[in-house]
Amino acid sequence: MPSQGAAHASAKSRTLTEAGEPTADLTVTPTVRALEFVRRLRGSSQPVLARCDDEHYYVVKFQNNPQHVRVLANELLAARLARLIGLPVPPVAIVNVSEQLAALPFEDSYRQAGMAGLQFGSRLPGLPGDTLVVDFLPDRLLRRVRNLREAFLGGFVFDKWTCNCDGRQVVFFRSANSRQLSYSAWLIDQGFCFNDGAWSFPDAPQRSLYPRALVYESVSGLSSFEPFLSRIENLEMGQLEAAIEGIPGQWCGGEPQRLLGLARELYDRRKGLRQAIIEAKNSCVRPFPGWK
Ligand SMILES: Nc1ncnc2c1ncn2[C@@H]1O[C@H](COP(=O)(O)OP(=O)(O)OP(=O)(O)O)[C@@H](O)[C@H]1O
Ligand SMILES: [Mg+2]
Repeated sequence: MPSQGAAHASAKSRTLTEAGEPTADLTVTPTVRALEFVRRLRGSSQPVLARCDDEHYYVVKFQNNPQHVRVLANELLAARLARLIGLPVPPVAIVNVSEQLAALPFEDSYRQAGMAGLQFGSRLPGLPGDTLVVDFLPDRLLRRVRNLREAFLGGFVFDKWTCNCDGRQVVFFRSANSRQLSYSAWLIDQGFCFNDGAWSFPDAPQRSLYPRALVYESVSGLSSFEPFLSRIENLEMGQLEAAIEGIPGQWCGGEPQRLLGLARELYDRRKGLRQAIIEAKNSCVRPFPGWK
């Protein structure tokens, strides 16, 4: 069962690395301490870039964000599930914000940056000065993204499964000093998986499609969504139960016991995934022209 303020939250499951190779590691969610709020970031949850005591930087979403407190639970659960099936997502952390830091005036002095306590953090791919991170790429560069298939075809299956009710968002990154122009992609912003704060699954055929057609050019059938499709279908209930362990109870909008129901629904939804992909294919936007 979810505990209030777990110091180390772990999901005892086999995980897959970014390359899709199985590892025996546990999926561990560390708790880090925020040392400094660096700046605000765009985004309707009003996230903040924070430097933390593990020497990494995190995009932090607060419990009192204007979207919904469950966005934090959604982010953590979705990140664990994504890792479980080998999707490229940022390492995540539970970020402890002290009363002192939360009370400091922040940039625009009429507001505080966020509240104290346990918040959600999504790690930056590197140090801000050393790593170039962008939200969008022109098609010319998008084509050359190293893990395009994993991010967009794997991400599509994942979004269908979790009923991500937001548009698919990705960050692309590369070393700022490298001459190579090829980027890697991470799936970010899973806050609206499980339909935001509602924890429901209002499926719709066209949902979850990335607005750049070229990312789906290679799709020729259901097999194009492998190995991610089969990995989800083959998940065991025990793995989903492990994935909800240690999600801070205060991120669940007063109903941490509903996490188990969410895990059960996800387990049942595995069976409908192929049909959901076929319905997307047949939808009026015809997103997969190479699938005859
Ligand atoms: N792990 C990460 N690494 C680098 N940048 C990130 C990361 N996570 C988020 N960002 C940056 O922070 C911005 C805001 O993050 P995110 O989209 O999760 O917030 P949001 O409030 O849910 O946004 P919105 O609801 O407006 O889409 C992103 O557009 C991206 O530029
Ligand atoms: Mg976003």
